[in-house]
Amino acid sequence: MSVTELEQVKQMARRSWACGDFPAIARMQLWPVGARIVERMAVAPGERVLDLACGTGNAGIRAAEAGAEVVGVDLTPELFDAGRAEAAEAGVELEWVEGDAEDLPFADESFDVVLSTFGCMFAPRHDVTASELVRVLRPGGRFGICSWTPEGAVGQSFQTFGRYLPPPPKVGQPPLLWGSEQHVSELFSELGVDLEFARETVAPPQFGSADEAVEFTVTKFGPLMMAKRLTTEDGRWPQLRAELVAQFERAEPGEYLVVAGRKR
Ligand SMILES: C[S@@+](CC[C@H](N)C(=O)[O-])C[C@H]1O[C@@H](n2cnc3c(N)ncnc32)[C@H](O)[C@@H]1O
Repeated sequence: MSVTELEQVKQMARRSWACGDFPAIARMQLWPVGARIVERMAVAPGERVLDLACGTGNAGIRAAEAGAEVVGVDLTPELFDAGRAEAAEAGVELEWVEGDAEDLPFADESFDVVLSTFGCMFAPRHDVTASELVRVLRPGGRFGICSWTPEGAVGQSFQTFGRYLPPPPKVGQPPLLWGSEQHVSELFSELGVDLEFARETVAPPQFGSADEAVEFTVTKFGPLMMAKRLTTEDGRWPQLRAELVAQFERAEPGEYLVVAGRKR
């Protein structure tokens, strides 16, 4: 795979996360998960924590509230102003760093804890991301990763609108594989870590109607905005819209896999 091809994938990802209003999407559904992973990983005052693919700081802000010294790293620095505003509201400060999960701009063994909520799953080369994550952790350090499962409602909706998008680039692997215990076990098998798995859910977002839910997501969530634009051009938007309405009407919880790891 050429460097240019990989760069293009990253640039497209950044554009997609920067457009629309991802901070509103995060608040609407993802916010409870940051608090849960901080509690599960028992983040303690004074620990140095990395929120990997932090977006607006879902996990990092909660870790800072627990007294940790937090760095958030993300490919899309366009999200950091909203993250700073969220942090200010919570009365904490984080360091916000632009960077790629596959090439972390941090020294070896420089964190006690690495957290990622629905973040590192979107970096294309899973093996590279896993080894970077372990590299920046000190021996004995912990990591907690939350990723949508393919079976849960959010995973299903990614697969639905994915069918209307151009075929994924050949570079890398599908994000939802991070929601499979088997895939994650294989990814980390040679990296000197111990893993535990759990499955949890988040409540479906609350809207007055499924129509309202579709309108909200197709105007605020970058990947769906792109799907709407493309399917409006080729006439398939009514079909995709009907599938999305049916999914929102089912109002099922979003299931995610929690990977709790420790570096030996
Ligand atoms: C669904 S959002 C989750 C953000 C945040 N962790 C949360 O829970 O709200 C996915 C995030 O992954 C980031 N991302 C995607 N690819 C990345 C990469 N290669 N390196 C770092 N961040 C990446 C995006 O910019 C985006 O902020």
